Amino acid sequence: MIEPHGGKLVNKIATEEEKKEWLNKSKELKSISVTYFDLSELENIATGLFSPLEGFMTKEDYDSVLNNMRLSNGTVWSIPIILSVKKEIADELKVGEDVLIKNQEDSKEYAILHLQEKYERRKEEEALKVYKTQDKAHPGVKFLYEQGEIALGGEITLLNRIEHENFQEFRFDPKDTRKIFSEKGWKTIVAFQTRNPIHRAHEYLQKTALEIVDGLFLNPLVGKTKDEDIPSDVRMKSYEVILDKYYPKERVFLGVFPVNMRYAGPKEAIFHAICRKNYGCTHFIVGRDHAGVGDYYGTYEAQEIFDQFKPEEIGIVPLKFEHAFYCKKCENMATAKTCPHGKEDHVFLSGTKVREMLSKGEKPPKEFTRAEVAEILMEYYMNK
Ligand code: ADX
Repeated sequence: MIEPHGGKLVNKIATEEEKKEWLNKSKELKSISVTYFDLSELENIATGLFSPLEGFMTKEDYDSVLNNMRLSNGTVWSIPIILSVKKEIADELKVGEDVLIKNQEDSKEYAILHLQEKYERRKEEEALKVYKTQDKAHPGVKFLYEQGEIALGGEITLLNRIEHENFQEFRFDPKDTRKIFSEKGWKTIVAFQTRNPIHRAHEYLQKTALEIVDGLFLNPLVGKTKDEDIPSDVRMKSYEVILDKYYPKERVFLGVFPVNMRYAGPKEAIFHAICRKNYGCTHFIVGRDHAGVGDYYGTYEAQEIFDQFKPEEIGIVPLKFEHAFYCKKCENMATAKTCPHGKEDHVFLSGTKVREMLSKGEKPPKEFTRAEVAEILMEYYMNK
């Protein structure tokens, strides 16, 4: 089995005994209340999905990630994982303290932050270096500017898991997927990231990849996404119907990716790949404009960025796919690499075009999306 990023799978989940001890002394600890976004980051650190991170980044790692796309010890890492709060809140906390982290919604205790360092979050610089823009119309940049200005770095101990109401049967930690893949006897596993309902181009990429590996890990993102994106339950429903009818059950595994979307294009592609390596995958699909939004990134920039590293530094192999479409003359799915015909023979619909059709009650063509998925999307738009 492929090694986790950095060599070992991080586990920051308190044992029952540790949890009891922390909760017993919780009244003596200072506490901060955080959002769902931060809680899910916490949990993803604790389960090892973000291995080798053991907590929220300290300044040395933050600087190194922004400037070199590496942690301070040289390990490749492209996205800052930061807990930041307002200055007034940070001023109350002392470096060296254990700070209780609560959910701002219900005040439930989730974790302990072993506060190692407080430092300024340089949002303008972070925007430019991670997102390549300071435009507030970019959803990732907009979100970044809404965050607190002081970062709290330090290791964490998770006391409680988030109580999710959905996708229970599809939630797996990296230690679970590693065990499952190994029980299935899969040696090579390709992961597929998505934040959209499945369409024919997705299916083409997945099945083409499946021709050369043992198993396919379908891993739709269900963390925070921007409001215009189709909600995760609709996305998951589309996967369930499609899997049932068109995929070989014994070679495909479906599990959700409980990570927040950043829309950081190329840098997020590296991050997405590393997380899937932690799940135990050996290959990762990167298609056109992976994790992109608007026209902030070049169509294949999320593929090219992998070339900045030695393959062994990333570990998981990116499978790079060109823009895929249905060709009426070929009568199948193809890309410019495999189809000699012109654009006029190709069926390609942008996300915006599809949303437009759906909101008018029009069914997208079967060359774009399977009829079963079109039904689910129509129903969602009808009730919206
Ligand atoms: S993403 O934000 O998760 O990347 P999306 O769900 O649209 O968005 O894409 C999932 C994966 O499929 C990404 O790797 C993306 O590059 C790829 N992809 C989506 N549509 C196409 C297409 N028509 N041709 C090639 N790759 C595609």
